[in-house]
Amino acid sequence: MPDTERPTADSARPAVRISGVHKSYRLGTGSVPALRGVDLNIDPGGITAIMGPSGSGKSTLLHLLAGLDRPDEGTIEVDGRCVSSLSERDLTLFRRRNMGIIFQQFNLLPALDATDNVGLPGMLDGMPEARVRARSLELLHELGLGSRSHHRPDALSGGEQQRVAIARALFFEPRVLLADEPTGNLDSESGARLWEVVERVIARHGSTVVVVTHEPLVAARCRHIHVLRDGIVAGSFEANGLDASDLALRAAGILRSAQ
Ligand SMILES: Nc1ncnc2c1ncn2[C@@H]1O[C@H](COP(=O)(O)OP(=O)(O)OP(=O)(O)O)[C@@H](O)[C@H]1O
Ligand SMILES: [Mg+2]
Repeated sequence: MPDTERPTADSARPAVRISGVHKSYRLGTGSVPALRGVDLNIDPGGITAIMGPSGSGKSTLLHLLAGLDRPDEGTIEVDGRCVSSLSERDLTLFRRRNMGIIFQQFNLLPALDATDNVGLPGMLDGMPEARVRARSLELLHELGLGSRSHHRPDALSGGEQQRVAIARALFFEPRVLLADEPTGNLDSESGARLWEVVERVIARHGSTVVVVTHEPLVAARCRHIHVLRDGIVAGSFEANGLDASDLALRAAGILRSAQ
């Protein structure tokens, strides 16, 4: 099967399999360890949260899942593909068709307006312009940005830029959505609207969502929570039925006992 095709769903297989992953950043003559042996499986479908203090390695892990960087050691499988060893070309195609990525810094293109930023995956994939435009406008409306479609990023608020980045990540209704603090700049109404859109995508495609968050309210929507500390998984638990304050206490307990 060519790597550009969507793999068929296999509900028995984890959507994400992370085995023995280490990652350090070189800085001057030294190196900064960011991940120090992470093992994690994420079930397909639904939302999984990665929590943990600032600097614990959450964004690093998401970058590795997206294949934007490679681990020093270990393997990462996403939706049946070993992203830690795919060629750059295959990775680019796999990412575009199967993954949606919402970065912590939105990574919008400053010269493009909101519609064109959202439509970028479709343009790169050779979709006809009219279809790209229609899909982009549909997403912008869904996220409450219908009246901002002609704005460039510098003429959008932080929360609006974040929603444009979210719309772009949802362009192809990805099988795997990776989101780094996607509601960090959003008011509660915009945040709720984002989750409604994401939950519709999950219902339609059985998509798997991995969200990095500091917010217990966001994590309370998730099935599983994994807590990172100093580059390792300090603990994991099921979030079903826990409210935001129970969840915050549980995560804090894990972090305390890992000290
Ligand atoms: N490019 C880099 N060069 C050197 N060190 C880095 C680099 N990127 C991250 N680090 C370090 O790696 C560690 C993990 O960083 P990471 O960005 O993954 O943390 P995080 O959990 O996402 O934090 P935050 O909640 O603040 O976003 C930190 O100690 C950070 O300083
Ligand atoms: Mg981060």
